[in-house]
Amino acid sequence: MSGAELKELREEIKKVTREILRLTAKRVELSLKIGDIKSRLGIDISDRQVEAELFNDALNFSGELGLDRDFTSRLISLLISESTKVQVEKTSRTGRIGLREIFYMALELEKSGRRIIRLEIGEPDFTAPPSVVDEACRALREGRSRYLSSYGIIELREAIAKRLNSMYGVDFKPENILVTSGGVTAIYIAVQALSRIGDEVLVPEPAWPLYREIAEHLGRRYVPLRTSIKDKWTVKLGELSKHTTPASKLLILNYPNNPTGRALSLTELKNLVEEARESGLTIISDEVYSQYYFHGRYAPSIAQVLDEGYVLVGSFSKTWGMTGYRIGYLVGDRELIERAAKILGLIMTCIPEFIQRAALKALRDEENIVRNVDEVKKRVRYMYSKLQENSLIEVYPSDGAFYLFPKIKIDGFDSSEFALKLLREYGVAVAPGSSFGEYNQHIRLSAVKPINEIDEGVEKINQAIQQTTQL
Ligand SMILES: Cc1ncc(COP(=O)(O)O)c(C=O)c1O
Repeated sequence: MSGAELKELREEIKKVTREILRLTAKRVELSLKIGDIKSRLGIDISDRQVEAELFNDALNFSGELGLDRDFTSRLISLLISESTKVQVEKTSRTGRIGLREIFYMALELEKSGRRIIRLEIGEPDFTAPPSVVDEACRALREGRSRYLSSYGIIELREAIAKRLNSMYGVDFKPENILVTSGGVTAIYIAVQALSRIGDEVLVPEPAWPLYREIAEHLGRRYVPLRTSIKDKWTVKLGELSKHTTPASKLLILNYPNNPTGRALSLTELKNLVEEARESGLTIISDEVYSQYYFHGRYAPSIAQVLDEGYVLVGSFSKTWGMTGYRIGYLVGDRELIERAAKILGLIMTCIPEFIQRAALKALRDEENIVRNVDEVKKRVRYMYSKLQENSLIEVYPSDGAFYLFPKIKIDGFDSSEFALKLLREYGVAVAPGSSFGEYNQHIRLSAVKPINEIDEGVEKINQAIQQTTQL
């Protein structure tokens, strides 16, 4: 009897599941109709207020049904994601060239023997100091190439903690540090450890494109908070809470910022972070450019304003020119670091010891950093002053990092088309603004190039802009 009953119940479950799918398909169909209307009216696909109303209604109803609140939030978030996706797919232009395509094309052109001025890439033109290279070689020769703990070698974790403590007057212990394969892995692991499928990850835009890619790859919903050059790339007070819903879990901050060069003052950071915490968000603070700060020694850090509810991401890539070594770190409370180490263990077992030894050496090479930062600052300032000479360009002066994100004030300007033309016809590679969010009138320029290349690059950009105005 119970066997027959089980079979019957399973059949019923199948039917209910089909019913859910049928209703989901109907929901998608309705979304497409809504998308058409939005497109005709020229309004944004995403409307956080409408979404918040939908969440509230669904949560009230799920309460009546006795469903788990957290599960409902994530389910609604997934449904909204799907609706947004189908609307975007239907309305957005396909074949738009992004930063990655420009990067590969520039490499190909160089391989074919053409000289290209590479202003698209976020990589210093200096490499690791000789002492660091020697240390990596020495460690390899010593046989430091075996399996290790996923956390990283204790000496390096101690040195990172000590360094952060002296920079920010805080009290991190080695247990608060996980050595990762660059900042990107630290962010990937942090998003995975701190949120679940369907949760929302909020990010002020313009933003480094990998935040979206990481969030979506992990099944989280990426929610942009748009800022504009007219407001000096500021997230206005109150804006964050307007964008949160019950599914919002994480906020990723990146100051000094890629691509705008905007950094926050300690007070601005405090206010923003306070609002985020009041909205129940955990913060991932990506501080890989913290040493490229033009108003002091280091940019203000999340570690100076919060005791908990955040993780900090750091890297050796930018500061020491160690991009290809793939080494960085994640800082957080002990319990989070334990979870994160387990995830890192699953992905890559551990970071190679000879690389960690090289990083340890780099930490002792403070002099090099100061030299690099001074040089980068000089170049950013120079590029800024050159760009300012063109009345069709509007650009934020930059507080740090090594990029400028000028707006080209030409109606109908298309950053992808422009980047492609600039590369093919003028031999200058730049990143299209559309890679960083809805910023199709902007381009991102990396200033970590010698002054003569910056000069030549900006000159050619000016010529290409001039040509665009004549079209
Ligand atoms: C904002 C930002 N975060 C993180 C990274 C990651 O750098 P890495 O993984 O080399 O440490 C980059 C690299 O371009 C970046 O621009």
